[in-house]
Amino acid sequence: MSVPAFGLGTFRLKDDVVITSVKNALDLGYRAIDTAQIYENEAAVGQAIAESGVARKDIYITTKIWTENLGREKLIPSLKESIAKLGTDYVDLTLVHWPSPGNAVRVEETMKALLEAKNMGLTREIGVSNFTIDLMQQAIDAVGVEQIATNQIELSPYLQNRNVTEWAKAHGIHITSYMTLAYGKALQDEVIGRIAEKHQATPAQVILSWAMALGYGVIPSSTKRENLQSNLKATELKLDADDMDAIAALERNERIVNPEGLAPQWDN
Ligand SMILES: NC(=O)c1ccc[n+]([C@@H]2O[C@H](COP(=O)([O-])OP(=O)(O)OC[C@H]3O[C@@H](n4cnc5c(N)ncnc54)[C@H](OP(=O)(O)O)[C@@H]3O)[C@@H](O)[C@H]2O)c1
Repeated sequence: MSVPAFGLGTFRLKDDVVITSVKNALDLGYRAIDTAQIYENEAAVGQAIAESGVARKDIYITTKIWTENLGREKLIPSLKESIAKLGTDYVDLTLVHWPSPGNAVRVEETMKALLEAKNMGLTREIGVSNFTIDLMQQAIDAVGVEQIATNQIELSPYLQNRNVTEWAKAHGIHITSYMTLAYGKALQDEVIGRIAEKHQATPAQVILSWAMALGYGVIPSSTKRENLQSNLKATELKLDADDMDAIAALERNERIVNPEGLAPQWDN
């Protein structure tokens, strides 16, 4: 599996805020960064990488194609633009950010264009985001499961997305969890707090460790160096079976990201 278990999110962060966050993260040892065309921060992320002194080959960069660029003629030119903004020659992973609203562009067309981009060397790997079971099946039918490096979905202790994760596991698709911390909300949870105390860890470390133990990639974001530093240490925390069971019981199907006109018919 090549998609890193741990990376840095950059949603909402722009200009100097994202430059500082990415530079701090790289300095602390992060080696994977998640951006997207719609975040309007690809150029700033590229600047931070250039200024970090970390070699390009040591960094795993993910970007995501926005919905208006999912058609065959637009996808590759838009990806080339992203790559130029990032100040690099290729990205490591390119995702379909959201399924095409109203199925205006068929999954098959987008996935084949992505595969063409991969064959051209513009991206090392390709994948999807916010894809339901039906959409994952369509992506598999278009390019084969071996081409799909990950499905990046909202997944936190409060939205464990079991229908999608079980189907993905059964079909060999890796899952990346976004908003693993429920945008900070799950950090206040009493059960998480108790487990954190038991391990002398932070609530964020507990949640990130839980997701990684289930095999999911995580990409928490932070504007604060101390949070970036402690979050990365989640890779060293090992939870026990009781902890995992207690967090499993926190499921309440609470979705944060559900944009009207963009979100597909979810599986749960
Ligand atoms: N594919 C998609 O459609 C999609 C959608 C949403 C997000 N994403 C990706 O997933 C990434 C993660 O999601 P997210 O950034 O929205 O939410 P998140 O990682 O769940 O939470 C980030 C929030 O948690 C806080 N935080 C982080 N570490 C903390 C710590 N140790 N202690 C206390 N607070 C902490 C941050 O505040 P501070 O800055 O104060 O630390 C920030 O407000 C995004 O950045 C983006 O790259 C993808």
